[in-house]
Amino acid sequence: MSDFISSGWSYWVTIIALGGVAFCLWLLFTQRSFLKKDVEADNTGHEWDGITEYNYPVPTWWTVMYVGLCAVGLGIMFLYPALGSNPGQVGYTSAKQAEEEKAAYLESLKPVYAKFDGQTIEQLAANEDARKLGERLFLNNCAQCHGSDAKGSPNFPNLTDSDWLWGGKPEQIHQTITEGRHGMMAPLAAVVSNEEANQIAHYVRSLSGLSSDPTLAPLGQVKFQAVCAACHGMDGKGNQLLGAPNLTDDVWLNSSSREVIVKTILEGRSGIMPAQKNTLTPEQIKMLAAYVWGLSNNK
Ligand code: HEC
Ligand code: HEC
Repeated sequence: MSDFISSGWSYWVTIIALGGVAFCLWLLFTQRSFLKKDVEADNTGHEWDGITEYNYPVPTWWTVMYVGLCAVGLGIMFLYPALGSNPGQVGYTSAKQAEEEKAAYLESLKPVYAKFDGQTIEQLAANEDARKLGERLFLNNCAQCHGSDAKGSPNFPNLTDSDWLWGGKPEQIHQTITEGRHGMMAPLAAVVSNEEANQIAHYVRSLSGLSSDPTLAPLGQVKFQAVCAACHGMDGKGNQLLGAPNLTDDVWLNSSSREVIVKTILEGRSGIMPAQKNTLTPEQIKMLAAYVWGLSNNK
């Protein structure tokens, strides 16, 4: 596929590339005094403190090198993609090179993972070598969102507690990492007024024992059961099939403040855990699942 939006650019690049070589050769031609070996070097007439400047012909070795480099340049342009969208004779592309290097890298990893073959996620979690490997994978691939200690940050869940949006069984964590997850709460401003959102927020805060207004919370409860319970459950304990969080504990994706809860109700929220199946190998994903599971299950 060409990187150019029109063939004009391809010609433009070709002209610059070939023109560059032509310019170099022209420059050499204008300095061709090397051809006239017998010519005496001109005295330029410049003299400083007894040092005279001469205009000697360019040495032959230098000329040969110069012409040689022009030839090498033309050779490279012929073999590799250099002249606009011309792919070159050897069929090189940087994407292909990256693919090959990745394949070679994955091949070189095989022995590292081979010794863990056939072990379950629980067994891997208990294995010190596997844990170290998992930790390195985590630091390289997951820490940017979940933190290097896996404790998360606002909107990125803590993976070291035993509170799970999508379930904490080994196979559920494995599924989360492999396929990714998308937690979606639609905005409810169309069905809940600002005042009602405030009442519901008081009720939600009361579920986890946070301060709330005792007259507004019961009004919020009625509305909660009508609008929110479908996902968060009648008791507010959440639903792992939908990734709907438990609202009765003290673990919050963002914040437990009344303002944030009202905003969540009116504007909704969404959290995306990116799928890793196209980035990491199955062995790496299993190692990571074991590492994450171990964070809250290893003694
Ligand atoms: C781009 C940011 C990002 C990266 C990178 C990322 N995650 Fe996540 N992850 C999230 C978000 C956001 C969620 C919460 C999804 C939701 O709201 O439902 C999440 C959720 C999870 C969960 C589910 C937590 C629960 O409570 O059920 C696990 C397990 C997890 N991530 C593990 C990993 C691992 C292992 C990696 C590295 C391979 C990783 N994540 C990389 C953003 C990220
Ligand atoms: C369609 C299902 C659905 C409905 C209906 C719904 N929610 Fe949610 N809610 C979710 C999901 C899924 C998340 C997690 C979003 C994410 O991963 O970012 C969430 C997140 C939240 C959070 C953030 C929790 C935390 O730990 O920080 C609060 C608070 C919340 N919902 C309250 C409510 C209230 C109150 C209602 C009713 C007015 C409601 N939700 C209705 C699915 C729903």
